[in-house]
Amino acid sequence: MSIQAVVQGIGHSVPEKIISNADLEKMVETSDEWIVQRTGIRERRMVAPDQSTSTLGIEAAKEALLRSGVEAGELDLIITGSVTGDMLFPSTSCLIQAGIGAKHSGAFDVGAACAGFIHATSVATAMIKTEQAKTVLVVGADALTRFVNWEDRSTCVLFGDGAGAVVLRAEENTERGVIKTVLLADGTGAKFIDLQAGGSRYPACSEASREVRSTIFMAGSEVYRFAVGAMGDACCRLLDQAGMSSDDVDLFVPHQANLRIIESAAKRLKLPEEKVFVNVAKYGNTSGGSIPLGLYEAEQEGRLKKGMVVMTVGFGAGLVWGANLIRW
Ligand code: ACO
Repeated sequence: MSIQAVVQGIGHSVPEKIISNADLEKMVETSDEWIVQRTGIRERRMVAPDQSTSTLGIEAAKEALLRSGVEAGELDLIITGSVTGDMLFPSTSCLIQAGIGAKHSGAFDVGAACAGFIHATSVATAMIKTEQAKTVLVVGADALTRFVNWEDRSTCVLFGDGAGAVVLRAEENTERGVIKTVLLADGTGAKFIDLQAGGSRYPACSEASREVRSTIFMAGSEVYRFAVGAMGDACCRLLDQAGMSSDDVDLFVPHQANLRIIESAAKRLKLPEEKVFVNVAKYGNTSGGSIPLGLYEAEQEGRLKKGMVVMTVGFGAGLVWGANLIRW
């Protein structure tokens, strides 16, 4: 039997500070009613001044290791899906490696915005299946509130901070593991979500960086239309490639950006409400953290158990989108 990349355990981390819709009402012209109706979000978490993407990732990683019964020294590789790394370099994975004391592992990041965890899981699975690594820590972490324009009501209500992590390990003679992945991109849509300042085109040290956006820009309705199509598209391709149907899916854990987007994807896939995991009300859009946070909470609530088939799907800046099918 072939080698499978099997989930050993999952961890999470969210900052303590809660920003409620009522808090936002004091900052911009908005209302709890508008935010809940249009997005399903009621509150989100925000990192403290001494926290960052790597500190969230380290906390999630430690919990994942503990729950897996795996020592940091046993890790061969750390892959983090994030677009809000602590710095341009070194990678957040290297900071996480140091933070958990994973002395024998490689470490690198994957930049795929809100689909970062899906991409990182896919790379980890490929490394395990091709016997280049046995035990891999996959982290999804972002601190988007650091890059939000708190005067822009069309974006500041959407985002929050959080992280999740799983340990994947090579196993044989098992039905469990990552079954299939679909990864897709359309770079011509780069203009719909971006953060321009601070990269090599507009370095933070340059005059030019002051002329461009240093906070998140998003063309909301274009991204909305793309997201509705992308979620269904990735899942249909995934199920098709796996020779499965949505009836075979026990739990659907989509990227938590907007309740209406989730509901329309679930409808297209004919997935009943009880098979759809939603926690967007509590955290908003945590980008790379969103899917592993969902998986973590689903497991905690007893909705995700060993042997179940879980389908995850994400989309985001790039534009990118993708989906994973995992026998948990
Ligand atoms: N409070 C009150 N009114 C608001 C707010 C707010 N917070 N934000 C916008 N509005 C107003 C607009 O100004 C507009 O007013 P107008 O008609 O007078 O111009 C009106 O509400 C409607 O705006 P729309 O943008 O058409 O509202 P829509 O129903 O499309 O919802 C939303 C906006 C929630 C942003 C939606 O477009 C969306 O969810 N888009 C997808 C976002 C997403 O999923 N991004 C994920 C990727 S992010 C990443 O990768 C990092």
